[in-house]
Amino acid sequence: MKQPMIEFEGERATTYDERYQKMAPLKDCLHLLADQVFASLPEEARVLVVAAGTGAELLYLAERHPEWIFTAVEPSKTMMSICREKCAQAGVGERVEFHNGYLQDLPQSQAYHGATSFLVSHFLLEADERRAFFREIARRLHPGGPLVNADLTHLEGDHQNVMALWLQTMTHSGHTLEQLQEYEANLKRAVSLVSDAEMKALLVDAGFQAPTRFLQTALISAWSAQRV
Ligand SMILES: C[S@@+](CC[C@H](N)C(=O)[O-])C[C@H]1O[C@@H](n2cnc3c(N)ncnc32)[C@H](O)[C@@H]1O
Repeated sequence: MKQPMIEFEGERATTYDERYQKMAPLKDCLHLLADQVFASLPEEARVLVVAAGTGAELLYLAERHPEWIFTAVEPSKTMMSICREKCAQAGVGERVEFHNGYLQDLPQSQAYHGATSFLVSHFLLEADERRAFFREIARRLHPGGPLVNADLTHLEGDHQNVMALWLQTMTHSGHTLEQLQEYEANLKRAVSLVSDAEMKALLVDAGFQAPTRFLQTALISAWSAQRV
C-alpha cells in the first residue's frame, strides 16, 4: 500500500485535537452511534481500531466497555504517542495493543469482534488501494463482525452547498484563511471523495455485507457493514 500524501506528523499531529475541538460534537454523534452498532458484541470483545489517531474513538469505547480489549493501528509516531499517553491517563492503556504501522503489517492472530476506521480511507486515492484496505480489515474480523467506517464523502447534488457549510464550520472552529486554503488544496490533491453508492460497492467488494449509511454530519458520512 502506498503512503497517503498527507502525513500526520509534526504540527499536524500535535495540534490535531486542538484544531478540531470545536467540531467535536460532530464526532460525538459518530461515537454514540458506532457504539450502538457494536451493541451485539460480547462482553469481552476484541476491537480493531484502524487509524486510531490521537485515540478519540478508542477512548470513547474503552471507557464504556471495561472488559473490551483493543488493537490500535496508527502509522504516525506522533499521533500514536499522543494516543498512548491519553490511554494511560484514562487508565485504559493496559487493554490496548499499540501497533505503530500499517494494517497489512499487523500479524493476524485471534479474530476481532468489531472494527472501526474513521477518517482514513478517503486518503487512499485509488479504488484498488481502498478496496485492499477494507479487505485487510475484513480478513481480521469474525464472520458477521461489524465494521464502522467514516469518511469525507461526495454528496452528489448537495455537494457544493455542503462543502460551503463545511468550510464555514472550519472557519468557525478557528482555521485561519491560510489554513483553510491549505485544507482546500489538500482536499483536491490528497483526498478521494466517493459517493454513498461507490462506498457501498467498495465495502461489498472487500468482503462485507449489508453496508448501511447511518449518519451524515456535513461532509462526513458513516457506514456500518458486517463481514460476510
Ligand atoms: C484524520 S486522522 C483520524 C484519526 C481518528 N480516527 C479520528 O477520527 O480522530 C487520520 C489518521 O489516519 C492515519 N493513517 C493514514 N493512513 C493510514 C493507513 N493507511 N492506515 C491506517 N492509518 C492511517 C493518520 O496517521 C492519522 O492519524
